[in-house]
Amino acid sequence: MKSKKRTKRHMQHRKIRRTRIKKHAKSGKVRVIRIKDGRIPSGVPNFDCLVEGGFEKSSTNLIVGGAGSGKSIFATQFIMEGIELGENCLYVTFEEKKEQFYKNMLEFGWDLSKHERKGRLVFLEYTPEKVKNMLEEGGGAVESIIMKKKIKRVVIDSITSFELLFQDEFAKREAALSLFNMINNWGCTSLLTLEEENSNETKMASRALEFESDSIVLLYYIRKDGERERFLEILKMRGTEHSNKLYRFEMTKKGIVVDKKPARISARI
Ligand SMILES: Nc1ncnc2c1ncn2[C@@H]1O[C@H](COP(=O)(O)OP(=O)(O)O)[C@@H](O)[C@H]1O
Ligand SMILES: [Mg+2]
Repeated sequence: MKSKKRTKRHMQHRKIRRTRIKKHAKSGKVRVIRIKDGRIPSGVPNFDCLVEGGFEKSSTNLIVGGAGSGKSIFATQFIMEGIELGENCLYVTFEEKKEQFYKNMLEFGWDLSKHERKGRLVFLEYTPEKVKNMLEEGGGAVESIIMKKKIKRVVIDSITSFELLFQDEFAKREAALSLFNMINNWGCTSLLTLEEENSNETKMASRALEFESDSIVLLYYIRKDGERERFLEILKMRGTEHSNKLYRFEMTKKGIVVDKKPARISARI
């Protein structure tokens, strides 16, 4: 009886939201963030309050959107947040050339080259075949980097090219499963980007990768009254009472900033 009570109290405690004070290193500005235990802040302003404080620790998350929708920028913000919190991070890209990517990100004030020199960031330009080999080797060089450097956050940008290596849905699902299992074993919180135009629920449901992920965030870049606007939506997040509304976001000088209030949009995306 006593232990039951204790368990119940413990459970209640786990549900209680904590508040964390975060001080910006440069400006000294203080931010108060409400978080559920074990949550990993995304680094994207106003996103975490939509998902009870951030991504779940050690979870595998998908960021889905069309070309130019902001996936790589979202992923880099996630990495920069980790670096700011003193975590070592890994960014694996199939698509971008490192030099150009670093240059683009510097526009937002994110000096990836500096963090790489300091050993906070490991940046790998990989071919999808290399990732396939990594799977066959059961982790290989990447896994030893993760262990050696005690990597906490991983980005794989993007998983689309990896998927193209496999012919049918079954092979894709098998590969996705082993990739997800491997990432889970690493114990890192990971973010995988997936390129998909006009994502919608029906289409998503048929895809192999989405089943395995702990969360799916959709990014839209849609034309409205002659100009394009950006929106974000959380399609799923396991174990989380997440918002089911659509939020506008802007690409600012500091990257993605999500509106605090849901978008007033009547059209179906
Ligand atoms: N310095 C910048 N300032 C404002 N917006 C930018 C900047 N750099 C890129 N963008 C916007 O972000 C888009 C690219 O975002 P990105 O994350 O690379 O997209 P994705 O990875 O989804 O293809 C560009 O098409 C542009 O609209
Ligand atoms: Mg990209």
